[in-house]
Amino acid sequence: MIPFIDLATQQHRIRSKILKRFEAILDHGQYIMGPEIVELEQGLQDFCGAKHAISCSNGTDALLLAVMALGASEGDAILCPSFTFAATAEIIPCVGATPIFVDIDPVTFNMDVDSLKSGIVLAQEKGLNLKGVIAVDLFGLAADYDPIIATAREHGMWVISDSAQGFGAIYKGKRTGSIGDIATTSFFPAKPLGGYGDGGAVFTNDDELANILKSLRVHGQGTDKYDNVRIGMNGRLDTLQAAVLIEKLALYPEEIDLRQKVADRYAAGLNGVVETPVVPEGYGSVWAQYTVKLPEGTDRTAVQAALKEANVPSAVYYPIPLHQQTAYKHWPSATASLANTEALAPRVLSLPMHPYLSEDDQNQVIAALKRVLAPVPA
Ligand SMILES: Cc1ncc(COP(=O)(O)O)c(C=O)c1O
Repeated sequence: MIPFIDLATQQHRIRSKILKRFEAILDHGQYIMGPEIVELEQGLQDFCGAKHAISCSNGTDALLLAVMALGASEGDAILCPSFTFAATAEIIPCVGATPIFVDIDPVTFNMDVDSLKSGIVLAQEKGLNLKGVIAVDLFGLAADYDPIIATAREHGMWVISDSAQGFGAIYKGKRTGSIGDIATTSFFPAKPLGGYGDGGAVFTNDDELANILKSLRVHGQGTDKYDNVRIGMNGRLDTLQAAVLIEKLALYPEEIDLRQKVADRYAAGLNGVVETPVVPEGYGSVWAQYTVKLPEGTDRTAVQAALKEANVPSAVYYPIPLHQQTAYKHWPSATASLANTEALAPRVLSLPMHPYLSEDDQNQVIAALKRVLAPVPA
């Protein structure tokens, strides 16, 4: 089977450096908040251009820290897309606020601004306080932040950029991480910049928010951790995980370029077979996933089974949008139906994507998908 993602080739490149760093940590013994944490945070800031990078335990806690820092509670509305991983919305009811699900743009899979506006009207009709917007950089492509932020500002709302899948993507000359009041990311191993376990980070350009986030990460600490000035959590990243991420971050710019080459080869090879992802002018994707749209009405389960027969793995992100999930369907959606989300959920298919995908393996993926979708007549 062709690997869906290949972490082994990358590990081979950096294994000895990581082991050396692990030895240094075993020697200095600062397993919690060791010097590697500071080094990683500096590297993350330098890479994405945010003023502050604050590492944390995972991408879900990063979102929770962000919402806690910006503030939201019962009676507040927070708008987010339905077509995303559950973590984006999960943290909203965790703080007592109401999620309002918004539709996506049918081309980019990211938040549709007109639907956001409908969601705002709905929140007002329901008597909720307009609090914030969480935009998602799905599959590695930045959301369209300029109109999202402008719309949020008109209503006095903050904007969180959930860049778990898109950290470092380009949006109009900036990198994600530096966009929004707070940006968040995940270092889950399968992410474009992933560690060897759970991890995440929160980013902001605001000094005061940075101080609050650092405090929240360690039980709401004040001058030290036994001085508690607010309700917080244990949201720290392990020193060992930071060591892995420092070495992976060093490869990241090169790996983004390699992912782009893979994406270009897919776009050329699958032209006319499926709808391939579109990267609008002024954007650069980090290609967390290479997600194609199958022709309408295609039996996706059969396609996946036939690909598997040809040793080609595939995945579906996401088969059920959040507004249709058992845990979330009682929360409001911007409009009666989220038409683009509902139309795309049955059509999406993600293909193997990683920086080290060989041309031979990729040709095999392309040939298999062509064969499956346009079988030669008997
Ligand atoms: C869009 C999005 N948000 C948040 C998360 C949560 O990240 P983590 O798994 O590190 O908690 C993920 C990760 O899967 C994600 O894809």
